[in-house]
Amino acid sequence: MKPLTIIPTYNEIDSLPTVVDRLRAAVPESDVLIVDDNSPDGTGELADQMSAQDAQIHVLHRTQKNGLGGAYLAGFSWGLAREYDVFVELDADGSHQPEQLPDLLGAVDEADLVIGSRWVSGGSVVNWPLHRELISRAGSTYSRVLLGLRVRDITAGFRVFRRSLLEEIDLGAIESVGYGFQVDMTFRTARLGKTIKEVPITFVERTLGESKMSGDIVAEAVLNVTKWGLSARAKALAARARAFSR
Ligand code: GDD
Ligand code: MN
Repeated sequence: MKPLTIIPTYNEIDSLPTVVDRLRAAVPESDVLIVDDNSPDGTGELADQMSAQDAQIHVLHRTQKNGLGGAYLAGFSWGLAREYDVFVELDADGSHQPEQLPDLLGAVDEADLVIGSRWVSGGSVVNWPLHRELISRAGSTYSRVLLGLRVRDITAGFRVFRRSLLEEIDLGAIESVGYGFQVDMTFRTARLGKTIKEVPITFVERTLGESKMSGDIVAEAVLNVTKWGLSARAKALAARARAFSR
């Protein structure tokens, strides 16, 4: 099983080297793809230097900050053009501990999508401000109810996808720019009837650099989830009405 770990970066010059070192030590068989959005702090140049030292590290440069969703889609398409079996999503800031990745990779035998979850038994967050925990829990609950999903941590960003799942999802149709991308991928996976497994993780808030979370990112996610939820309901109702009129 050949994994590709995709790490999106925007101004992560202080965190990136440690995370990549930890990842290379914890899962040496995984190749690494850093997807940098032309970070003003020089993260992209640093990534190039790291790549020159290690044949398993690759870098994709994008010209401007175009959101987490766009970065992952670019990373998936890079990896799908090559022979990887599983695709890992990992934040660059140390919040996702590479040492827990073997737990997630172990579960991909039983699931098409494995989610490193903060909100299942055994999962936790360390040093997160209360408002972030509230946004995350409320966002997961709202999405779970509206989209009819059973997943507890729907916006989670520490994940493993089977290649076959990514090949089935219509990646070109994904419009989510921000962290709502994670909800989008979860919803699409569930609608394809694929299996999703949550594995508990300890999410550790970053000590270096800054979060890129913003009001716009929350607004996009809430708007999209509402739209998808309502349109799925409308479709179900229309189908029932058709069945009834026959
Ligand atoms: N290339 C690129 N472009 N990378 C980005 C962008 C972007 O526009 N925005 C964020 N990133 C990168 C960051 O550099 C970091 O490596 C990772 O994406 C996560 O960003 P953070 O800003 O650290 O996210 P967070 O800690 O606030 O949010 C975490 O929780 C969210 C909600 O559960 C992450 O785990 C998210 O993935 C998750 O959705
Ligand atoms: Mn973070």
